[in-house]
Amino acid sequence: MRSSKERFKTLHGIFDAFTIKTLQSLSSKQMFELDTLSPISEGKEAYVLSALREIREERVALKVYFLQTADFNKMYYYIKDDPRFASLIKKRRKVIMAWASREHKNLHIAREAGILSPTPYIVKNNVLIMQFIGKEDGKPCPLLTNVSFSDFNEKEKENFFRECFRSIGKLRKHDLVHGDLSSFNVLVKDDAPVFIDFSHATPYSCHMGKQLYERDLKNMFQYFNKHRYGSFEEAKKIADKE
Ligand SMILES: Nc1ncnc2c1ncn2[C@@H]1O[C@H](COP(=O)(O)OP(=O)(O)O)[C@@H](O)[C@H]1O
Ligand SMILES: [Mg+2]
Repeated sequence: MRSSKERFKTLHGIFDAFTIKTLQSLSSKQMFELDTLSPISEGKEAYVLSALREIREERVALKVYFLQTADFNKMYYYIKDDPRFASLIKKRRKVIMAWASREHKNLHIAREAGILSPTPYIVKNNVLIMQFIGKEDGKPCPLLTNVSFSDFNEKEKENFFRECFRSIGKLRKHDLVHGDLSSFNVLVKDDAPVFIDFSHATPYSCHMGKQLYERDLKNMFQYFNKHRYGSFEEAKKIADKE
């Protein structure tokens, strides 16, 4: 077990001073314990970690957007047409914080829509804290892309397939389209799909909505197609019916 001082040194190696301040502030509000931080994934735009939240005796997930290396030009391009961020100005920090805030808002909508997704807890600057999807010991649930569909029995396969496309439909009904859906953004918990990574999600009613919805359906179906399961027409019908 590393000491909290050592972990803190590690944080300094990964994050800039502003981000560390934000983490410290959230930790002082008892949103998580700083010395329990443990890395899950390092992506292009964000670092995902888990930590314990003692007062609730639970594990939380933290998504920390990189302030210095994230491609904020690309991020701005993808957020500028979202009417909820119409007044956003093209400044690095502002755009990255808007991205974190958008994911937080979207996770709330996903919850309201009644789909399986992490419950959002708080967003501050470039740090989003949400429900951890995994085991108590800190092991996150596997990504769908790493799950072998043939391990499911017939009933489980059917339920899983239906649940994926019903969830896409439920989001649309709540005026949201994920926008980056595929087996790389779905976790498998108790044989059910949990959608994650909502930072791209935009209102279905905005001008790219329908196009993104169709793309999500296609990209999600690719996983089933690879396993020779179901048809695209069937998948689309399930989603459209919601
Ligand atoms: N709430 C969560 N609980 C457990 N693991 C998570 C959670 N959110 C993300 N992860 C893990 O972190 C990885 C990256 O998260 P994601 O939101 O997809 O970010 P990105 O793809 O932008 O790097 C996921 O593939 C998943 O393994
Ligand atoms: Mg992802």
